[in-house]
Amino acid sequence: MVMQPDILPLTIHDLVITRGDRRVLDGLSLSLAPGEIYALLGGNGAGKSTTLFAILGFLARSSGTLSVAGTDPAEAPDAVRARVAYLPENVALYDHLSARENVDYFLKVAGTPRPRVDVEAAFESVGLAASAWDARAASFSKGMRQKTAIALALLRQAPLLLLDEPTSGLDPAAAADFHALLASLSARGVAVLMVTHDLLGAADTANRIGLIQAGRIAREWTASDTAPRFDLNALHDGFAGARAWAPA
Ligand SMILES: Nc1ncnc2c1ncn2[C@@H]1O[C@H](COP(=O)(O)OP(=O)(O)OP(=O)(O)O)[C@@H](O)[C@H]1O
Ligand SMILES: [Mg+2]
Repeated sequence: MVMQPDILPLTIHDLVITRGDRRVLDGLSLSLAPGEIYALLGGNGAGKSTTLFAILGFLARSSGTLSVAGTDPAEAPDAVRARVAYLPENVALYDHLSARENVDYFLKVAGTPRPRVDVEAAFESVGLAASAWDARAASFSKGMRQKTAIALALLRQAPLLLLDEPTSGLDPAAAADFHALLASLSARGVAVLMVTHDLLGAADTANRIGLIQAGRIAREWTASDTAPRFDLNALHDGFAGARAWAPA
């Protein structure tokens, strides 16, 4: 992964985004260092997906600053999208194409064709079974679709990976596989911003966990170097306290 050490994969400062007549993000600040895994939690409608769309340059901002590897998506959206790998909750692939053909196609569209051997190495490193490489994506499970998309992200050398609820609908073994895959991406220096409702998965995988409330990061927890990495009771209380309708 080629990255300049002094430029962070993501910096957001005091971001304000209005959707309809609502200030969905209202002073959100968040920075990620290379290799960091940040889990972003918050109630439905809290602004988690909005944060991801803002990073991708799909939403105009009212104020604040945002940069991806030193580039502002408002000024150079294409350059930013070339550096970011975004996985929506359900990864879209061309069903009539194989995993290999999907990756070849998306690389060609992005202007970075790769030799066959690189694609196979990427499939191996994400744990996509060799029997799937030339099978049609129509038959793929959610986990296989994610692995294909992450192989593509590796080949594109994206320094920042955005994930929206990646483990919802995965069985526990597939979710554990996925978290292991994130750890290996992190070891390669990829920064990961993961929106999730899975508190335990976040506590297993993330270096930091943030809670969005009232349009900003209202609470944040940092993993400790020794087990347990996070105080689960404190996390749970933090989230329960964030739900206005939670029983007292
Ligand atoms: N297309 C839209 N037009 C106008 N307002 C929108 C639109 N999409 C979202 N919003 C507003 O932005 C708020 C935040 O939405 P967002 O999708 O970011 O929430 P979220 O935290 O991802 O929630 P969830 O957990 O349900 O996915 C919503 O409550 C809604 O008020
Ligand atoms: Mg969402």
